[in-house]
Amino acid sequence: MADTDDEHTSPQNPDNRIELERLAADAKHEAQILAHPPKGPEGEPLHKPMPRPGATRVVRDRKGARKVVEVPSTGHSWDGIEEYDNPLPRWWLWTFYATIVWGLAYVVAYPAIPLLTGATQGLLGQNYRADVAVEIQRFNDANAPIQARLVETPLEEIAADPDLANYTANAGAAIFRTWCAQCHGSGAGGASGYPTLLDNDWLWGGTLEEIHTTIQHGIRDPKDEETRYSEMPRFGTDELLENAQIGQVVNHVLALGGLPHDAALAAEGATVFADNCSSCHAEDGSGDRAQGAPDLTDAVWLYGSDQATISRIVHDGPYGVMPAWSGRLSEADIRAVASYVHSLGGGE
Ligand code: HEC
Ligand code: HEC
Repeated sequence: MADTDDEHTSPQNPDNRIELERLAADAKHEAQILAHPPKGPEGEPLHKPMPRPGATRVVRDRKGARKVVEVPSTGHSWDGIEEYDNPLPRWWLWTFYATIVWGLAYVVAYPAIPLLTGATQGLLGQNYRADVAVEIQRFNDANAPIQARLVETPLEEIAADPDLANYTANAGAAIFRTWCAQCHGSGAGGASGYPTLLDNDWLWGGTLEEIHTTIQHGIRDPKDEETRYSEMPRFGTDELLENAQIGQVVNHVLALGGLPHDAALAAEGATVFADNCSSCHAEDGSGDRAQGAPDLTDAVWLYGSDQATISRIVHDGPYGVMPAWSGRLSEADIRAVASYVHSLGGGE
């Protein structure tokens, strides 16, 4: 079957043809009547052309009385559907005008039209960027006195000053969330390679002074001359130890940490450890903060406690890097975040 539109409009369709013929006859009849209107005995027209349905409209005049008015046609007609020239509802029209007025007023009053290097300024001088700058400045000004005091106060006296303690707790937490959380975790719990700052197991030291230095100069940051620095050798990569020796010393490390290990290998590993590792990790494996060498006897592991991870660390050498913050954060901010870290539970 042909598509539905054709079916209804095509003169080929017998039903349609009948309809079209009827319409044509009607039109012809109407035209004849209009040309020679039949007259009654008084000469009055007997036949008035019937208005098409919808060509009238009920309106109320000024007194509120209802009356019927004729609606002219726009002359547009599609498939016999005619478009009448009804006026738009008044409420709609006024709303429409109001939006135009509002739009023009807005363009004049506010920044609106984009230009090459900015936008029109608007008569009201509204500028949200400037608002933000003013707002930031307002906070900076408000914080300036306490920040100045924070910088002047010796580190060990900060916690005793309630105002400073309160400020560092809030500002320090905010700075931590912004600058430190991506590596140390939002709760400072750390991740593999990134130490937790919640416990009292410190690589480089847990006094406020030491934490402050770590943050200020970073760890193994090549851009900072005073950075905390040490480098565990790459025992496998640089062929300082044979693979067999690495297997032995790794078992010794497992034994130090109280983890499942091969006792025979571990015993041999003790010698390897004493010769190669104790200068940094100490004879008993308890580590050395001066070199940032972790305690290997506790249950806290920076990289992981499984044999594969420890073998990799000994073979390839770890090289944890933390950026120095002195170029990025102000002294007050560094003190605030150092106090915050110190207060997290592991501070000494
Ligand atoms: C790019 C990742 C990264 C960012 C960002 C980072 N750190 Fe670290 N941080 C590290 C790594 C890695 C270490 C451990 C380095 C090592 O192996 O000695 C570390 C170590 C530390 C230590 C020493 C912990 C100890 O046990 O002695 C402190 C304190 C510290 N970070 C505080 C911060 C603070 C505060 C910030 C934010 C201002 C921060 N870190 C941002 C990666 C990061
Ligand atoms: C020059 C000093 C130095 C020597 C020598 C040294 N280490 Fe280390 N070791 C470190 C430092 C510093 C770290 C932490 C480094 C980092 O995070 O980049 C470390 C980390 C480790 C870790 C990771 C600990 C953890 O918590 O995940 C293991 C395991 C380890 N060393 C084992 C050894 C063994 C075994 C030897 C001897 C074969 C050895 N180290 C020799 C300095 C040393």
